[in-house]
Amino acid sequence: MNPETQPSMASTSAATVLELAIILPTLNERDNLAPLVERIEGALGRSGWEVLIVDDNSADGTSDEARRLSLSDPRVRVIQRIGRRGLSSAAIEGFCATAAPYVAVMDADHQHDPKLLVEMLAAVKSGEADVAVASRFAEGASMAEWNRPDREKLSSVANTLARKLTGVDLSDPMSGFFLLRSATARELVPGLSGIGFKILLDLLATSETPLKVKDFPMNFSARRSGESKLDRAIALDFLAGLYDKSFGRVIPTRFALFGTVGVIGVGVHMAILYAFMLVGGANFSWSQAVATFGAMTFNFWLNNFLTYRDRRLKEANKVFWGWVSFIAACSIGAFANVAVATTLHDRGLPTVVAALVGIGIGSVWNYALSSRFVWGR
Ligand code: GDD
Ligand code: MN
Repeated sequence: MNPETQPSMASTSAATVLELAIILPTLNERDNLAPLVERIEGALGRSGWEVLIVDDNSADGTSDEARRLSLSDPRVRVIQRIGRRGLSSAAIEGFCATAAPYVAVMDADHQHDPKLLVEMLAAVKSGEADVAVASRFAEGASMAEWNRPDREKLSSVANTLARKLTGVDLSDPMSGFFLLRSATARELVPGLSGIGFKILLDLLATSETPLKVKDFPMNFSARRSGESKLDRAIALDFLAGLYDKSFGRVIPTRFALFGTVGVIGVGVHMAILYAFMLVGGANFSWSQAVATFGAMTFNFWLNNFLTYRDRRLKEANKVFWGWVSFIAACSIGAFANVAVATTLHDRGLPTVVAALVGIGIGSVWNYALSSRFVWGR
């Protein structure tokens, strides 16, 4: 490109001064990178910006492609993370890895139009806003496609819930496209949960002084190539994130999930027990044994799916050994449960109290052991 005819975002003649870092979290976006850098240059001009590709070791070679681009274009930088995952934490990585005074986060799949960056940057630079948010739901926004209609509904439920719980009022709290001062972002990092992909919401909810937000209606385009990574995990991560923000300090999210699974497991246990006794005509101890195994298996499955979704056991033999060790962990937990409850009961505590304390202690044991030995890394 010809330097003379290209617009430059820097208002001074020192066009080489780095002003904006554009963080692109990536997971299998190899083919989207080169054309996106080109579009960013088209929007922002030749200089004053850098692109930070934060790739979580994508199987399609996104990191190598990013390095290839970087070799001939120093505006492109690469952070390849191995053994870590997540859109939010990738954004955080980017905040801390740039010298640019302003940072933007956007999707690497061309769903976000880099042209909007110009207005967003101007608003934050002038102090009109602390955070510029590209919104899919503001007046004048449009969406090329919602590949699943249920997702639109989910999104509006999520937005309402987010507003209620955090008190932050904006039209698209789940937007993945926003811009702010990088120093502001870094100041908030220690308070961020870094879970899931609701990084914007997290930033806004964490700030002690309310941040001024300005919405920019956007055209949410169709993904250029590859597929969305968020569809399946979207609701789970979102709810876990909200919980973490609200009560996570009192009872850690993972333990709360583990406990919830345990409570559901009791229901499963009862259902199996009654089915065997009433429908199948089996005696109590057999039915109880089958129900115990059934419930443990169910708990293992649901914990693998939900509680430890980020460390999910997938291959058949890992699942099998995971299941075996989960049952072993539960047996130790049950032993602790009975031992503690009996001791308390012998000392004269009411039956219900002794039983509940036993269950509590047993659950902590189950949790500690399975966290370490079933889903440990
Ligand atoms: N490093 C990293 N690690 N990047 C990730 C990860 C991850 O675990 N998961 C997703 N990404 C990247 C993708 O490669 C993409 O560049 C961007 O994050 C957004 O992911 P998509 O998979 O394209 O998400 P989407 O289009 O379904 O979701 C859209 O809506 C969400 C809210 O409903 C996006 O706009 C999200 O940013 C938004 O939060
Ligand atoms: Mn996308």
